[in-house]
Amino acid sequence: MSENISNLLYLVSIVSFILALKFLSSPTRARRGNQIGAAGMLLAIGVTLAKSETGGGLSKSLDTGTYWLIAIAAIIGSAIGVIGARKVKMTAMPQMVALFNGVGGGAVALVALSEYHNIIRDHVSTTWDISLAIGISGLIGSVSFAGSIIAFAKLQELIHGRPITYPGQKIVNLVILGVGLGLACTVAAGVTHHWVLVVALLLALAFGVLFVLPIGGADMPVVISLLNAFTGIAAAASGFELGSNVLIVSGMLVGASGTLLTLMMGKAMNRSIGNVLFGAFGQVAAGAGDAAAAGGATGTVKSTSADDVAIMLAYARKVIIVPGYGLAVAQAQHNVRELADELEKRNVEVVYAIHPVAGRMPGHMNVLLAEANVPYTALKEMEEVNPEFPLAEVALVIGANDVTNPAARSNPASPIYGMPILDVDKAQAIVVMKRSMRPGFAGIDNELYLDPKCMMLFGDAKESVVKLVTAVKAL
Ligand code: TAP
Repeated sequence: MSENISNLLYLVSIVSFILALKFLSSPTRARRGNQIGAAGMLLAIGVTLAKSETGGGLSKSLDTGTYWLIAIAAIIGSAIGVIGARKVKMTAMPQMVALFNGVGGGAVALVALSEYHNIIRDHVSTTWDISLAIGISGLIGSVSFAGSIIAFAKLQELIHGRPITYPGQKIVNLVILGVGLGLACTVAAGVTHHWVLVVALLLALAFGVLFVLPIGGADMPVVISLLNAFTGIAAAASGFELGSNVLIVSGMLVGASGTLLTLMMGKAMNRSIGNVLFGAFGQVAAGAGDAAAAGGATGTVKSTSADDVAIMLAYARKVIIVPGYGLAVAQAQHNVRELADELEKRNVEVVYAIHPVAGRMPGHMNVLLAEANVPYTALKEMEEVNPEFPLAEVALVIGANDVTNPAARSNPASPIYGMPILDVDKAQAIVVMKRSMRPGFAGIDNELYLDPKCMMLFGDAKESVVKLVTAVKAL
C-alpha cells in the first residue's frame, strides 16, 4: 500500500474518531457514534497491518508466523471484549472501563519496552525525542495499568474500597516517582541498558498501585477517568515512537476528553482534583454521620405506604422523579416509565431531575432511562429543573441519596458541603424510596429524611414502583 493511500485512510480514521466523540455527546446519536468510532479503529488496524505487509511500516520484519499470532490475539481479545461488554451489568460499567483502560496502558508500556529492546539489539541510533517518547509512554502506561487494576479491584470489592493510608505515604510515593522519572530521563538522554527501563517501569507499576490505594472507592470513577487520560497521553507518545500519526491523534483525543471528563466530574461534586487524589475522601466520610448531626438536623423519620403515595401522585399536577444509584441497582427503569405513563394518562406532568453525578458514572441515569424509552425531553438537567421543585406537588426520589442531601448547602462540616444538589427539599411534598436508613456513596446521613414534608417508602425500588403502578391503576 502506497504511503499516500495509507495516510489518506488514516485521515479517514482520525475524522471518524472526532465524529464519534461528537455523536457520543448526545443520547440520541451515541449508538451511532460508537459504531463510527469502532469502524474507524477497524480501518486504522487494517491499514497498519497492510502497511507492514508491504514493508511500509516500522515493523518491516513481520512474517507469516507473526500475522498468525496477531490474528489469534485479535480473536481472543475481540471475544473477551464482546462477551464482557454484553454481559456486564450497567452498575458494573465503571470497573469494566477501568479494566479495559488498564489493558491499554499495559499494552503501551510493553510497546515501549519492545522498541527499547529493538534499539539496543540492532544498535540503532535514535534521536532524543524518540527516546523521550519511549520513557514517557513506558512510565505513564505502567502507572495507568497498575492504577486501573487497583481501581477495578476496589470497585469489584476484591479489595476494600476505603482509603488505605499509612504514615509517610506521600513521601514514599514521591521518592518512587522521582527515581522512576530519573531513570526515564536517562533513557531519553540516550542510555541504552535493558535494566534501566525495566526498573523504571517496575517503579511506575509500584507508583500506580500506591497512588490509587489511598483513594476511596467513592472517588474511583474520577480516578478511572484521569487514568484514561493518562493512557491516551501514553498512547500518543507511543505514536511518536512508532511514527504513527493516527496513534498520536487518537491518543491525544483520549487524553483531552479524559482530562475534560475528570474536571467536569470534580466540578459536579465541588471537589478539586487534588482533593480527590490526596484527600482520602472515604476516610473523612466514615465519621461524617456526626458531621451531619452537627449541622443541627433533628426530627423524626415518617414512613408511608404505596397506597398513600399513589393517591398523592395521581392527584398532583406536577411530579418530579429524582432517579439515583438505587434505581440502577433495582433495575426499575421500565416500571418507572410505566408509572409515568399511568400518571400522564391522568394529566399529571412528569419530569425527571438528572444530577450530573447521580449513579456511578457520567450519564448513568440518562442511559438507564433511555433503556426504558423515557423521552429525552422529559429529562431535565439540575440547573434547569431546580427552579421547578417549588411548583411540584411531589418529588419522588427513587434510590437517590447524596445528590439530594441539603447538608451540601447548609452544613460546612459535611464532607459534601458545596456539592451542587437537586433542590428536592423545596418541593411541596417529598417521597423517598429506598430500602433502609443506610447512607449512600458518601457514607453520610441525609437531613432530608427528617424534613416534616418528607415520607419514606421503604423497600426495593422495583417492588415499590410495581406496587405504585398497581395502586394508581386501581384509583
Ligand atoms: P447514593 O448517594 O449512592 O445513594 C443510593 C441509594 O440507593 C442508597 O442510599 C441506597 O439506600 C439506595 N438503594 C440501593 N439499592 C437500592 C434498591 N435496590 N432499591 C432502593 N434503593 C436502593 O446515590 P446517588 O444519590 O445517585 O449519588 C451518587 C453518589 O456517587 C454521589 O455521592 C456521587 O458523588 C458519587 N459519585 C458519582 C460519580 C458519577 S460520575 N456518577 C462519580 C464518583 C462518585 P438503601 O441501601 O437504604 O436502599
